[in-house]
Amino acid sequence: MVCLGNICRSPLAEGIMLKLIKENNLNLRVDSAGTSNYHEDEAPDARTIANAAKHHIDLKPLRARQFKTSDFDKFDKIYVMDKSNLSNVLALACHEAHKAKVDLLLNASHPHQNLEVPDPYFGGEQGFEEVFQLVYKVCQHIAFA
Ligand code: 4NP
Repeated sequence: MVCLGNICRSPLAEGIMLKLIKENNLNLRVDSAGTSNYHEDEAPDARTIANAAKHHIDLKPLRARQFKTSDFDKFDKIYVMDKSNLSNVLALACHEAHKAKVDLLLNASHPHQNLEVPDPYFGGEQGFEEVFQLVYKVCQHIAFA
C-alpha cells in the first residue's frame, strides 16, 4: 500500500488489511510505504489514528518508510492511492514485470476506472472518514477476492 507520506492513506490501508487478515486467518502479507521520505519513522497522522480508532483499528505502532526498489521483488501487488503515486512508483520500476505489479488501489474494486483515494492531509475530519470508507470497502474486495 503506497501513498505520498505514508502517514494517512497507506498506513490506514495497511491497518485495515492487518485486521482483515487477522480476523479471517488469511494467508496474506501487507506493508505500506510512501513515495517521499517526508515523514520517515513517524507514526501515522494523529487525525488518521483517531479516525481509525473509531473503527477499532490501532495504527499507533506503524512507522512511515519510503518505498524502495526492493519492494518490487518482495510483493506481488503494489497498490497506490493516486495517479501521482502511480507515476512516482512506475518511475522506479526497471522492467515490465515490476511495472505490472503496480495498480491504483481502487482498481481492485472498480477495474479500469482509475479512481483515486483522495489525499485527506490538507482537509478536515470529514475527509478522513471518507477515505476510511473508500479504503475499507476496497480492502474487503482484496481480502475476499
Ligand atoms: P498521505 O498524505 O500521502 O496519505 O500520507 C500526506 C501526508 C503528508 C503530506 C502529504 C500527503 N505532506 O505533504 O507532508
